[in-house]
Amino acid sequence: MKIAVVGTGYVGLVTGTCLSDYGNTVYCVDVDEKKINDLKKGIIPIYEPGLEGMVKSNHEGDRLRFTTDLKEALDDSNICFIAVGTPMGEDGSADLQYVLNVAENIGKVMSHHMYIVDKSTVPVGTAIKVRETVQAELDKRGSDLTFDVISNPEFLKEGTAVEDCSRPDRIVIGTDNDGASKVMYKLYKPLVKNTEAMIFMDIPSAEMTKYTANAMLATKISFMNEISNICERVGADVNKVRLGIGSDHRIGYQFIYPGCGYGGSCFPKDVQALIKTSEDFEYDSKILKAVEMVNAEQKMVIPTKIVKRFGEDLTGKTFAVWGLSFKPNTDDMRMSAAITIINELTARGAKIKAYDPKAMEEAKECYLKGNDSVEYCESKYTCLVGADAMIMVTEWKEFRQPDFEEIKQRLKYPVIFDGRNQYDAEELEEMGIEYYQIGVRK
Ligand SMILES: NC(=O)c1ccc[n+]([C@@H]2O[C@H](COP(=O)([O-])OP(=O)(O)OC[C@H]3O[C@@H](n4cnc5c(N)ncnc54)[C@H](O)[C@@H]3O)[C@@H](O)[C@H]2O)c1
Repeated sequence: MKIAVVGTGYVGLVTGTCLSDYGNTVYCVDVDEKKINDLKKGIIPIYEPGLEGMVKSNHEGDRLRFTTDLKEALDDSNICFIAVGTPMGEDGSADLQYVLNVAENIGKVMSHHMYIVDKSTVPVGTAIKVRETVQAELDKRGSDLTFDVISNPEFLKEGTAVEDCSRPDRIVIGTDNDGASKVMYKLYKPLVKNTEAMIFMDIPSAEMTKYTANAMLATKISFMNEISNICERVGADVNKVRLGIGSDHRIGYQFIYPGCGYGGSCFPKDVQALIKTSEDFEYDSKILKAVEMVNAEQKMVIPTKIVKRFGEDLTGKTFAVWGLSFKPNTDDMRMSAAITIINELTARGAKIKAYDPKAMEEAKECYLKGNDSVEYCESKYTCLVGADAMIMVTEWKEFRQPDFEEIKQRLKYPVIFDGRNQYDAEELEEMGIEYYQIGVRK
């Protein structure tokens, strides 16, 4: 099949690449000329395991093409995915300007029937707006071309995006006619072992499904973080409580790890957007507001422990930070807890020595740009030298089983603040390391 994917970010590039890997011809379209020129040269703008080789092989096989020219892509495609960003607007709602800009451009240049597929995370009612926007442009042209709008929210996870996209657990498809459903079925059939994994529904339900999934996962995280705060106060160990509840199949072990708060490009903005949608429909979403509030406070748990240990004024103190990305296996730092932690500590006069396997460029160029108190180091051990304590923020694999003797020798004081409860408290205490975790009283 011939497909255009507009927006070549985490979702668009991975989706386009995976669809081309199944033999389709895919045009990845973006307004960012540098990104498109780099991709043509084989330079991949994001880090995502397995992506680089797949982009190169499909590009070399001429199944995956990169362009800034939407018309060129649409002239040779029947399906057009919209996969541009939907960042948080000032009032918390999803900012639809990029999605509607793409819809407008599609209406301006399409030359035959198109299946227009919303893959961006968008609130209920967006498919109608996309339809109206495309139609308005066609009307201006005096064109009687037809098109369908489909909702196909994306569930891939950064860090395992290629795997998630190539072999999805489920594909949600919202359509309002059989023709559109058949085209989506044909497109996705090769990707699923079991066609029951394709779940067809009406468009508003598909739009709502994505927000519900993210809100549910964010709720699990905030719930467990709240429990961790209670555990710490009452003298219980949240790590044991987690095991105790996870063994109940109705609860399960996933997404009940305590930590220093969720980040990323999705959970924070999607929870906010759902709160705003509820308000627009005169419903006060109490749980969702609490989820966000708990998360914002959770990002301050590590700085609070540090202040308790080292004092309010951190002038003259240096902290080694392991991990900057919002989760392992990605260079994405959007809304990462590391940003809050580092900015809070440096505002109190501390210096930071940071190391992350993939996200240091992002930090330097964007998320911690201008924070001169941050020094970037070449390895997890070099950043420890002369530091007063180490802070574990992102649980990259290389941080899971470190050499604690080496850590002890390099740090000025053997103190670890662990924002992801990665290590064995007893082992560390035996080694004389002062070990602070989330949800465990010290
Ligand atoms: N990142 C994730 O893990 C993830 C997972 C599921 C769903 N989503 C959703 O998918 C959407 C895209 O997210 P992302 O993380 O890939 O975004 P991103 O910011 O990484 O990429 C968006 C891309 O769209 C391009 N763009 C903007 N306007 C354009 C236009 N008019 N024409 C062509 N290109 C344009 C930008 O240049 C950028 O390259 C969002 O709605 C997001 O919520 C993201």
